[in-house]
Amino acid sequence: MANLAKLVEVAPEAVQSLEAKLRARETSLPEKYRVLFSLRNIDGKGAHDALALALRDGSALFRHDVAFCMGQRQDPAAVEVLQAVLADTSEHPMVRHEAGEALGAIGRPECLDSLRRHARDAAPEVAETCQLALERIEFLQQAGPAGLRGGDSPYMSVDPTPPFPLETPMEQLRQILLDPNQRMFDRYRALFALRNRGGDEAVAVLCEAFGAASALLKHEVAYVLGQLQHPLSVPTLGRVLRDQREHAMVRHEAAEALGAVADPGCVALLRAHAADAEPIVAHSCVVALDVLEHEASGAFEYCAAVGGPAGAAGGAAVAAH
Ligand SMILES: [Fe+2]
Ligand SMILES: [Fe+2]
Repeated sequence: MANLAKLVEVAPEAVQSLEAKLRARETSLPEKYRVLFSLRNIDGKGAHDALALALRDGSALFRHDVAFCMGQRQDPAAVEVLQAVLADTSEHPMVRHEAGEALGAIGRPECLDSLRRHARDAAPEVAETCQLALERIEFLQQAGPAGLRGGDSPYMSVDPTPPFPLETPMEQLRQILLDPNQRMFDRYRALFALRNRGGDEAVAVLCEAFGAASALLKHEVAYVLGQLQHPLSVPTLGRVLRDQREHAMVRHEAAEALGAVADPGCVALLRAHAADAEPIVAHSCVVALDVLEHEASGAFEYCAAVGGPAGAAGGAAVAAH
């Protein structure tokens, strides 16, 4: 299976200093995120071990992004620890969901058993994620390397499903995305095709999908809107973040997407929700404000400084999930 993760070699001392930063009590959450985004792109056991340690962090938001990054790395060494997270019913469902998605992203045969076991999990976001992951692995097995050709994410992300082909008519993508009777796998395929297409019309269709019942689908919509960084999505993302009745996972993803769009008009809203009663929303706003500040300063790399080729351990893969 094609491996999309491009990992770089860095000196072991640099990895050790990143791990030390994760362990230090005084390291703030935004600082931990910068460490995470660096580790995400570093090859080797040292980086894996530091990530496995980070899975024990006190913030569920941070733990879920650690699981996400482990999936994006597509490192088979992570399978065991991700399976343990998925099976741990005392863990936050959002973290378990991300562990399931990461196993799908790694996509190796040894991931199948635990994904099958949790495809009927009591937590709907976990069950739906495992079903998608199983279908992703099946799809890629059948399609072979050709299944990814033309489907690689322009955002350098390993996505939970391939997109529909780029030539699929916009109206067809809209219908599939918005139809609750369609398979979730196909709704996701429409979602990623719309993201890859981009532009005003695709963003408007994606915003319509916040009317869906599935929290899983809506959180992925918010995630791709963060990747698109389109100003048209700002009012909708703001409404989703403010809506206390919305699933916390969806509100969290809306907050991070607002940070990624980096519209200065979002600052007041993100500040207001940095003290949200729901910790994963509050933490997301704190991180989003940090990202926004970074964007405003014109800094290109959002990651902790490590040795190695310039920009090698940062760059395109800064998006959290
Ligand atoms: Fe997620
Ligand atoms: Fe997320």
